Amino acid sequence: MTKNNIIIALLLTGLFFNSNWNAYAVSGNPLIVPAPVQMTMGEGEFLFSPNTVFAVENREQKKIVDNFTALFTQAAGFTPKVETGVKEAAVRLTTDVAMRPEAYHLQVSSGRIQIKAADEQGFFYALQTLRLLLPPVIENVVRVDAEWKIPAVTINDEPRFGYRGMMLDVSRFFTPKKEVLRIIDCMAMLKLNMLHFHLSDDNGWRLEIKKYPRLTEVGAWCVNRGDATFPDRRNQKQGEPTPKGGFYTQEDIKEIVAYAAERQIQVIPEIDIPGHSNAALAAYPQYACPVVEDFISVLPGLGGSNTDIIYCAGNDKTFEFLQGIMDEVTELFPSKYIHLGGDEAWKTYWKKCPLCQARIREEKLKDEEALQGYFMNRMGKYLQTKGKVLMGWDELTHSKIPEDAVIFGWQGYGEAALKAAAQGHRFVMTPARVTYLIRYQGPQWFEPLTYFGNITLKDVYDYEPVQKGWKPEYEPLLMGVQACMWTEFCNKPEDVTYHIFPRLAALAEIAWAPKGTKDWRRFLKAMDNYTAHLNAKGIIYSESMYNIQHTVTANNGKLNVKLECIRPDVEIRYTTDGMQPGKSSALYTESLEINSTTYLKCATFANGKQIGQTLDLPLVWNKATAKPILNAQKIDNLLTNGVRGSLRQSDFEWRTWDAMPEASFTIDLLQPEVIHEVALGCLTNYGMGAHKPKSVKVEVSEDNARFTVVGEKSFTSDEIFKEGNFIEDIAFKINNAKARYVRVTSRNAGLCPENHLRPGQQSRYYYDEIIIK
Ligand code: ACM
Ligand code: ZN
Repeated sequence: MTKNNIIIALLLTGLFFNSNWNAYAVSGNPLIVPAPVQMTMGEGEFLFSPNTVFAVENREQKKIVDNFTALFTQAAGFTPKVETGVKEAAVRLTTDVAMRPEAYHLQVSSGRIQIKAADEQGFFYALQTLRLLLPPVIENVVRVDAEWKIPAVTINDEPRFGYRGMMLDVSRFFTPKKEVLRIIDCMAMLKLNMLHFHLSDDNGWRLEIKKYPRLTEVGAWCVNRGDATFPDRRNQKQGEPTPKGGFYTQEDIKEIVAYAAERQIQVIPEIDIPGHSNAALAAYPQYACPVVEDFISVLPGLGGSNTDIIYCAGNDKTFEFLQGIMDEVTELFPSKYIHLGGDEAWKTYWKKCPLCQARIREEKLKDEEALQGYFMNRMGKYLQTKGKVLMGWDELTHSKIPEDAVIFGWQGYGEAALKAAAQGHRFVMTPARVTYLIRYQGPQWFEPLTYFGNITLKDVYDYEPVQKGWKPEYEPLLMGVQACMWTEFCNKPEDVTYHIFPRLAALAEIAWAPKGTKDWRRFLKAMDNYTAHLNAKGIIYSESMYNIQHTVTANNGKLNVKLECIRPDVEIRYTTDGMQPGKSSALYTESLEINSTTYLKCATFANGKQIGQTLDLPLVWNKATAKPILNAQKIDNLLTNGVRGSLRQSDFEWRTWDAMPEASFTIDLLQPEVIHEVALGCLTNYGMGAHKPKSVKVEVSEDNARFTVVGEKSFTSDEIFKEGNFIEDIAFKINNAKARYVRVTSRNAGLCPENHLRPGQQSRYYYDEIIIK
């Protein structure tokens, strides 16, 4: 059959459920994510029907196939038969012990499907490939009419890495069991095999432990701070009710573990020690250092200095307690790995605690870091007695790494994990800069509030864990890669899946596909097919890959406007007359040059339809707009680019000087101008410690040598450290000064005061724009 004939055939059979099938037929590209190692399209197709029989060899295979055919039961209203040891069958599973672990061979022709693998994983992955080749409505939970066909194809496939993971933080947001199961199923479709389950943190203990019931009676619940965002939530005061939270019973955990196991996913529990432990210590404060005088509570937000409260390393009872927890954890989770965290354990109290200091002396430890080494090693040894292997974050490399421990490189690009590799430890790469799904996944003006910078779908996709310059002995110790879903900004289950998908598909591709085989356009098509499956399952995911990121740069009196979308298969269309862009609006092909106030609107289009959200970009002129800043760093450009920032200091429109006590910048207006007002757009974002400066001075000059002060303001602590999230223009009325140069000098307001949510932490001021009239 020619490609055209295939299209006609598909049209006739009504198989055009979505454009993905169209793309599939036209391009002949496989629509499988992660991309199979080797895939050859054949002629014809295989049709599943109530009469389809799967021939399996044993009970294990039957279970795997039953799981697959259950999709048909719901969506198709029939269930293909699964029989052991039959001769006549359209679909046959055959064990081939010569094949590699997790590998599979799949051959689909009209009327026959052959699957070969050496193990259960291989058979399971072959069926996930079939699942993705079926019409996406196979995921429907109610019956739908469709032709349950897959194209003829031959696939040889195996993963690049043995560890293909996602971490789910259920402490910050308690994700209900039902949603956890749905996420696991979506992971399985991507052939991911590890769920790192972050079950404890400062913000909630989520696992029933029979020996210590207060862990869930107290540790699973915190105060409800209503709509306040995570950084803005004040800690619990003693006696306040704690209605918010939840936990998994041991029965829930058994169900989650079994459901994951059916999908070849190991659940690795994380109990974070010795830091990130306020929830446990709220329930059992006796295991904190005795020098802690603060009321210990389950933290609803960032927690301020309470995050310094960690387990006491000098108290043997602490270890008894944690071992008691491990006794139940190791029983509940069959995984041979137990993650014990070890990250961000601040040593404030260990430095002051007589028990911790006595331990340092007795054990002849160098310092508090070495004491953490002692702590982790002691727990690691206990896990070894249970036949388990300790996993931990890369802070474990700051001291003696526990024997056989697996290290997760997370800080920056995960480089610290290489310190562990140099000592012969296995490691997993989960760098915050590329795989932390909490970060913004698209242009921030369109995104729900979250943290830090951006990690787009493409950023995840472009990640290559094995870097040039690695010593040859490192790569064999790399177990694989993981995405981490931290849930500080999630308030409902859809928020969690919104952040996870579709970026998890990109992570799966890195984890599975051979190095050097990436193809961004091919991936997008395959991912569209995956998201079509998510649609049918009713999973909420982000479409921010269709939104436009603007970069507006001042360039010698003009503004240069760059518009970018990470999808190359869309058009950007724009207007400058304030009208909504449509399919016939001007097509953006190269950066635009603007030299007066312009109300730019733009959006992405595909097949004549708007597909992303409309970017509304007012470029409003004043005397400073597009003018150079002397001796500028690139970021200074933002001050004169005509674009106002949003309420988020990380939206790439805000300039900060961090903790510098004093900073100046000088604008060259390029010619003498009469000036009667200078204003600075200044952000307050209380929870993030963004506040006004202590003082601002404005000076003008005709020659950039002699300056005259034309305005000066200083602010009181009450004026600076206001609550809320707002933009305030700090404006100076000027008595018609004539000048070419304007210099602004600001002084930092210093540390946030004691009654602040971030007491003693550095405050920062942010300006988006200088407005000169
Ligand atoms: C971490 O992000 N603290 C592991
Ligand atoms: Zn102590």
